[in-house]
Amino acid sequence: MDTNKRPETMERITTPELAAKFIDEQVAAVRAQVGDKKVLLALSGGVDSSVVAALLIKAIGKQLVCVHVNHGLMRKGESEQVIEVFQNQLDANLIYIDATDRFLDLLKDVAEPEKKRKIIGGEFIKVFDEEAGKLEGISFLAQGTIYPDILESDGVKAHHNVGGLPEDMQFELVEPVKLLFKDEVRVVGKALGLPAGMVDRQPFPGPGLGVRCLGAITRDRLHALREADAILREEFENAGLNKTVWQYFIAVPDMKSVGVKNDKRYEGWPAIIRAVNTTDAMSATIEEIPYALLHKITDRITNEVEGINRVLYDLTPKPIGTIEWE
Ligand code: XMP
Repeated sequence: MDTNKRPETMERITTPELAAKFIDEQVAAVRAQVGDKKVLLALSGGVDSSVVAALLIKAIGKQLVCVHVNHGLMRKGESEQVIEVFQNQLDANLIYIDATDRFLDLLKDVAEPEKKRKIIGGEFIKVFDEEAGKLEGISFLAQGTIYPDILESDGVKAHHNVGGLPEDMQFELVEPVKLLFKDEVRVVGKALGLPAGMVDRQPFPGPGLGVRCLGAITRDRLHALREADAILREEFENAGLNKTVWQYFIAVPDMKSVGVKNDKRYEGWPAIIRAVNTTDAMSATIEEIPYALLHKITDRITNEVEGINRVLYDLTPKPIGTIEWE
């Protein structure tokens, strides 16, 4: 039997009851597979790895070792949420590594998008590998592979995502949600008690804010991007747009324009709002955002975020514009 093929008889998980049944089955399956051995998981804080972590904590508790690498390109509050939920609330065995300086030092003066991606992906593997090397008695590697990853690639999530692990890591894989679609992973995550803010998260690229801080990343511009993005998210949530808009974020290009602040010349970066709707991210349309809200967001960002002096709204559908600016 091909264990990477979803059986046609498998029911779509849409309710808490079906999720509970799936969880029970997987808890038993994981226990049978793992026995008393240890399992390692790269926990990014994204939906898939978070759900796998919660499921494995339920199944094997402290036999799971989660490693969260903060590459310095997370959105505001994300690493803190990982620590709060997994370490404080779920009492997980969590190793937190703040590798911000390593990543940002390597990325200094690198403007080319593909090079940036390679550096981020490569360094992630290195950091994770180093941590794994310090641990003893790890036999398994858990991954948040989901069914679209299998359908769209060769079954390994990684190529596209930071979190791609070296092929020479000799671990047996534990992939409890590999036959699920994204919506089912979310239902299972909720049934496992993960917070809605974690389970309903928007897609977020593996290289994180690295693809939104355009050109060569500097710490001050990255900070401005992170703060502006947090304001956008807060205002969209307050307006209920998080329920209707599929993905929204800020990109900050590596250019300045002249402005005026406190009667003085103020050179700053523009913050570009991207808010799109799509079903599969292959094409995307532009969401109509009420002007009053755009004005409010503009006022807040230009007043509260050091270094930003203009706010722009990207009206370009995909195609021709990709969703990310990169
Ligand atoms: P583009 O920019 O190609 O993006 O229109 C399509 C969707 O993919 C997301 N994206 C990524 N997701 N790892 C991911 O998991 C990545 O490296 C990555 N790059 C882009 C993007 O946010 C959008 O939702």
